[in-house]
Amino acid sequence: MTSPFFSRGLILLVGLCCLLPTTKTKYEKLYEDSSIDPFQCRKVALTVCNISITLFREMARLSANGNILFSPIRVIAAISMLSLGANGNLSKHILESLRFNKTGLPEAEIHKCFRYLLRPIHYSEEPSSLKSRSSVFIHQGLTSVDKFVKGVKDLYHSDIISINFTDSSRAKTQINNYVMEKSKGEIANMVKNMESDTFLAVVNYIIWNAKIFNNSGCRSVKMKDYHLGHGMTIKVPMIHTVGMNYLFRVEDLSSMVLSFTLLDVNITTYFILPDIGKMQKVEKSLTYPHFRRMRRQLSLSQMSDLDTPELSLSETHDLESVMSLLGITYVFNNDANSSVAMNDTVWKSFKVVSKAVLTMDEKGSRLGTNSCFKNDGSVDVTRVQFNRPFLIFIQDQTNDAPLFLGRVVNPKNYP
Ligand SMILES: *[C@@H]1O[C@H](CO)[C@@H](O)[C@H](O)[C@H]1NC(C)=O
Ligand SMILES: *[C@@H]1O[C@H](CO)[C@@H](O)[C@H](O)[C@H]1NC(C)=O
Ligand SMILES: *[C@@H]1O[C@H](CO)[C@@H](O)[C@H](O)[C@H]1NC(C)=O
Ligand SMILES: *[C@@H]1O[C@H](CO)[C@@H](O)[C@H](O)[C@H]1NC(C)=O
Ligand SMILES: *[C@@H]1O[C@H](CO)[C@@H](O)[C@H](O)[C@H]1NC(C)=O
Ligand SMILES: *[C@@H]1O[C@H](CO)[C@@H](O)[C@H](O)[C@H]1NC(C)=O
Ligand SMILES: *[C@@H]1O[C@H](CO)[C@@H](O)[C@H](O)[C@H]1NC(C)=O
Ligand SMILES: *[C@@H]1O[C@H](CO)[C@@H](O)[C@H](O)[C@H]1NC(C)=O
Repeated sequence: MTSPFFSRGLILLVGLCCLLPTTKTKYEKLYEDSSIDPFQCRKVALTVCNISITLFREMARLSANGNILFSPIRVIAAISMLSLGANGNLSKHILESLRFNKTGLPEAEIHKCFRYLLRPIHYSEEPSSLKSRSSVFIHQGLTSVDKFVKGVKDLYHSDIISINFTDSSRAKTQINNYVMEKSKGEIANMVKNMESDTFLAVVNYIIWNAKIFNNSGCRSVKMKDYHLGHGMTIKVPMIHTVGMNYLFRVEDLSSMVLSFTLLDVNITTYFILPDIGKMQKVEKSLTYPHFRRMRRQLSLSQMSDLDTPELSLSETHDLESVMSLLGITYVFNNDANSSVAMNDTVWKSFKVVSKAVLTMDEKGSRLGTNSCFKNDGSVDVTRVQFNRPFLIFIQDQTNDAPLFLGRVVNPKNYP
């Protein structure tokens, strides 16, 4: 017994039979799953990297001076997951818009790779500095296509929860309370607004509270000037370190790059500081292969004297607009012809929201100055101050999944 629903071109055949949150034990052995080929999944990860840079460039163009932060893997996974609920035609269109057809992999393999790529962020060891969750809320009473429900749970590690959307503001409150509870209070008011004819909501978040420069004995935090641009300066807590760091110049980006890998989570972070006045040029010319080349340079550690601001950043994206930036306009096209039942439901809207929260600081780790390097003049020390807008890219080293990408203009816009 299925009743088809048309949603501006996106068909979701969804349902209510015993939808329960997933348990995690099932995924514990995922990396030993022999049906997953890490080599093939790397192609999917690199495609996500490539497209996230394209997306970033679009966002940068639309917001010339503000902070930008999003989680490419979370954003692309949400859109890819939605393709599970679309009909063949539309699902193909979505996957092609995400450029997955270039991987040469069949659809089923692409989805399976998301299971592999998302695993570390969903099931990192507790207590972890990295937390992530994805949840799908469906109007109760709708009947389901098993492929969608099963895929959401098994491939995208998502909870699937049926709630009553009849009163959309009540549904919104229920969703926000759920996310609040699951994030142990870290994420409040996830969904800000929702159309009254919404029948489906996908919400996901990723939080990383990183402790940086943990291994350097010589560091201190002081309030220092940070230049926002346009002559505006603020005081921010700035971490000063002296020590060996992966710091190098990337000539074709006119930038200094600082990279560090936090070994406990296998995550590599790149800070890209364009020369003064070069931010827009860098944003226009940045491609993913730049990061691949940077990775090869990671043997180049050098004695450096660094100022990096503590970061406390958060941004929430309504993925409807992200989808249209990616050319997935079809989904929102009322004239789309893909449905057999486009006319017989009042439920038309869906909501997809992704939130990225990133903090980097020194709280809780001991600051020492006694082991500071004392330069007697015999060593070249490169001094770099991240005291003006820079770009940030954060990648999971185990599977190449891009976790965060953004532009830091104001290092503290959260909470
Ligand atoms: C990523 O983009 C580069 C060019 O920017 C291209 O050479 C490469 O093939 C792309 N990789 C994937 C996996 O799409
Ligand atoms: C959907 O499929 C039909 C044929 O089955 C084709 O004519 C049409 O162009 C397709 N639409 C899209 C958007 O791919
Ligand atoms: C992938 O899809 C795009 C958009 O439909 C198309 O232009 C491109 O030729 C396709 N590439 C491959 C390798 O199939
Ligand atoms: C959903 O809520 C409405 C009132 O807001 C109620 O009339 C309806 O019966 C509820 N539906 C279900 C399936 O509980
Ligand atoms: C929908 O189908 C009709 C005829 O079946 C066609 O004239 C129209 O262009 C189609 N619209 C879209 C958006 O494909
Ligand atoms: C919707 O369906 C009704 C009857 O089922 C029909 O009269 C009406 O023309 C349809 N509207 C559209 C836009 O197809
Ligand atoms: C960071 O420092 C704390 C105490 O200074 C230590 O317990 C912890 O193991 C360190 N973490 C890493 C990843 O080095
Ligand atoms: C980090 O990655 C390496 C290989 O990529 C792996 O051997 C190691 O177990 C990973 N560590 C964690 C904590 O995931």
